[in-house]
Amino acid sequence: MALLEAHNLTKHFGGLAAVHRVDLTVHDGEIVGLIGPNGAGKTTCFNLLSGFLPPTDGTITFAGAPTLGLKPYEMVARGLVRTFQQTTLFQEMTVLQNVLMGLHQHSRRGLGRVLASWRAFPPDEMARCHEVLAFTGLTAMSEQLAKSLPHGHQRTLGIAMALAVRPRLLMLDEPVTGMNLDESLRVMQLVKTIRDRGTTILLVEHNMRAVMGTCERILVLNFGQKLAEGTPAEVASNPDVIAAYLGPGVSHA
Ligand SMILES: Nc1ncnc2c1ncn2[C@@H]1O[C@H](COP(=O)(O)OP(=O)(O)O)[C@@H](O)[C@H]1O
Ligand SMILES: [Mg+2]
Repeated sequence: MALLEAHNLTKHFGGLAAVHRVDLTVHDGEIVGLIGPNGAGKTTCFNLLSGFLPPTDGTITFAGAPTLGLKPYEMVARGLVRTFQQTTLFQEMTVLQNVLMGLHQHSRRGLGRVLASWRAFPPDEMARCHEVLAFTGLTAMSEQLAKSLPHGHQRTLGIAMALAVRPRLLMLDEPVTGMNLDESLRVMQLVKTIRDRGTTILLVEHNMRAVMGTCERILVLNFGQKLAEGTPAEVASNPDVIAAYLGPGVSHA
């Protein structure tokens, strides 16, 4: 079943067609990659799909219902959660507190209200946060301030915050950028485990090894338009993709 479906998705910034007439489908249980050169429109697509920007044109359906006009927190309430290309943690809070903030990202309570009731979080919410921390390997750091974590763990904490609400669709914007090889392999394994536990994944990533080794289907954007779509092997051998993006010698192994 199609979980997320966009038709004719378009976003113009003045004269710039950042996203132009893109059709995109993500089925339940898939790991789909969205790739393309810098400026291709990947993050703009994420912003449109997650309610952070209104499209200039086109339709988006999530879990069978149109999403036009829904705010990001309303998308979260429906089960669509995205992370950001730039790490957006609450730097002065602990790791555990960050996950609690993630758990409340769809509530309309402002940050101040969440903080005011800090000591009063119900046991089931605390249990959920500890479960997410254990799952993402952050338990040992739960009382550390977010700002004190190494980069790789900060990025993982961003994923943990998104997972707190048990999303149906998790959209990750460059989750392994800036990580060393070990860290990025660990995060890509985490992505597979998240999917195996029932969360569908849409992933933007520059690291080709990560994308090719993790995604079942890949969509390539170039200058805001869809250039190709297919399995990693199909995309990696597509002459248009090689010319625009991959260059010779990139293997999908
Ligand atoms: N808020 C904005 N206002 C104006 N132009 C934007 C805005 N966001 C993105 N762009 C432009 O849209 C194009 C696509 O950007 P982006 O979606 O960030 O690409 P990618 O994530 O693929 O690198 C770029 O040319 C970028 O400069
Ligand atoms: Mg981007």
